[in-house]
Amino acid sequence: MRVIRTIKELREALEYMRAGGHTPIGFVPTMGYLHEGHASLVRRAAEASGTVVMSIFVNPLQFGPGEDYATYPRDERRDLELAEREGADIVFIPSVEEMYPQAVKTTVSVSSLTERLCGASRPGHFDGVATVVSKLFNIVQPDLAFFGLKDAQQVAVLRRMVSDLNMNVQIVACPIMRESDGLALSSRNVYLSAEERSQALVLSRSLRAVRKALEEGTVHTAEEARAMLMSGIRESQLAVIDYAEILTYPDLEPIAGEQALLSVPGEMIMALAVKFGTTRLIDNNVFTAKEVRVLV
Ligand code: PAF
Repeated sequence: MRVIRTIKELREALEYMRAGGHTPIGFVPTMGYLHEGHASLVRRAAEASGTVVMSIFVNPLQFGPGEDYATYPRDERRDLELAEREGADIVFIPSVEEMYPQAVKTTVSVSSLTERLCGASRPGHFDGVATVVSKLFNIVQPDLAFFGLKDAQQVAVLRRMVSDLNMNVQIVACPIMRESDGLALSSRNVYLSAEERSQALVLSRSLRAVRKALEEGTVHTAEEARAMLMSGIRESQLAVIDYAEILTYPDLEPIAGEQALLSVPGEMIMALAVKFGTTRLIDNNVFTAKEVRVLV
């Protein structure tokens, strides 16, 4: 596995891989502090690609003022061990100066679906994500790019960006990875105290409860489902709800409160963002009325 820190060197290495027929190029963009969720993306990329590139870059552009950019957890040595073990061929770790050598004047902005959910609570966040992922796609020119569905809104935004801008890359969405007790894996879980960690289980528990209630026919409308999500989260005294929403997916359009969810055509998302102390956690479940099942 090669560790590369400059764009020039990465482009040369990838030219060599392409010339040698080590294609398709599979790309796993990350911000590091890797966990089993990232490992599953690398494994999936390794199955589908001739060359697997992972990037590790904590992107300042996607953090708002007062967010955790400076304290975002970092552990390069551990990340490199995981990347190598799971089958990455190249790990690209640029500095901020390498990625942003001058003040950024060109940004990529996907409208409408970035205005809801995390976009509403974190203004500018998805512009930062779309901009850095566009830059990384231009640098790596991957055939396939792998993202986890825990960030389902990010997947929707990036798919729309790729489609609107005719980028020649296929976005592969991979399932949410969870601890055995249901907590969705996240680099930010490390911030949780033992008590917060235990109360954070209300996220996955509420999503599961609503899914079960929909399957059993005890919950029907969007409003009932939303109320059940909220009351499930309120079982934790430490939880401060940022949002608990049910929207269409991937367009993230509202569903009228009185509408029966099983009458909605296409995919829907139940999405949660909840703060425990200073740590903001997200989780979601994407499903269709037809099968009321998780889509991956
Ligand atoms: O999901 C992440 O880790 C980041 O948003 C990404 C896609 C690597 C862009 O910085």
